[in-house]
Amino acid sequence: MISVSHISKIYKTGDVETVALDDISFEIKKGEFVAIMGPSGSGKSTLMHILGALDRPTSGTYILDGENVENLSDDELAEIRNRKIGFVFQAFNLLPRTSAVKNVILPMAYGGIEKERRNEVAEKYLKMVGLGDRMNHTPSQLSGGQMQRVAIARSLVMDPAIILADEPTGNIASNQAAEIMAIFQKLNDDGRTVIMITHEPDIAEHAKRIIHILDGKINSDSNGHKQRVVKSKAISK
Ligand SMILES: Nc1ncnc2c1ncn2[C@@H]1O[C@H](COP(=O)(O)OP(=O)(O)OP(=O)(O)O)[C@@H](O)[C@H]1O
Ligand SMILES: [Mg+2]
Repeated sequence: MISVSHISKIYKTGDVETVALDDISFEIKKGEFVAIMGPSGSGKSTLMHILGALDRPTSGTYILDGENVENLSDDELAEIRNRKIGFVFQAFNLLPRTSAVKNVILPMAYGGIEKERRNEVAEKYLKMVGLGDRMNHTPSQLSGGQMQRVAIARSLVMDPAIILADEPTGNIASNQAAEIMAIFQKLNDDGRTVIMITHEPDIAEHAKRIIHILDGKINSDSNGHKQRVVKSKAISK
């Protein structure tokens, strides 16, 4: 589903060059639930932008669902993004003074879903995230956890195979974070690939695989080490 091969990303700001990603390679298969962890500035958001086709690597190859991103025009990338990927951000990125249902409808307006169906689809996903009784509330009338659930509903309306979330619980009280994680869990159980950046180890625990990055490099990848993890837990009891 996702194949990253020798990806580097160098930002140039005036005379300063920052190597945000340094020769990273990995694969993510359909249906995985992956957490990406690492300290501030280690390159997590940069990686997420590349995986989400919001930005291109300086070098290396990124293949998203069989398509080499390098060979696609910006318009083609935007199209793929809208069709295949649902984005969830730490700051929710909802339109203020706009109702939950209208926020959720927005991607469908770009995505070519007939006008008559949009309301019905938005309501279906708002109900799925437990906000059937908050359709007409604006973001300022919702709690942090509720705003993030609106953002998750919005990420789902084009039925994406991949959910990319950058610190989705970063601005949310811990009791509400558990609800958010239960929703991601369900989306993964339904077969969606979930890739989530987080600082918090207890949030990362929900994932089946954890990739740690440090200074733009992969420091560890739990893939293939599941048995060892289970064993060490048993010993600590
Ligand atoms: N647009 C940009 N222009 C220049 N440098 C950038 C840009 N975006 C990120 N950087 C730099 O690249 C490095 C990686 O940044 P990135 O945002 O990917 O880190 P992060 O792991 O997401 O950190 P955080 O946990 O604080 O969100 C940092 O040194 C950062 O200053
Ligand atoms: Mg970041």
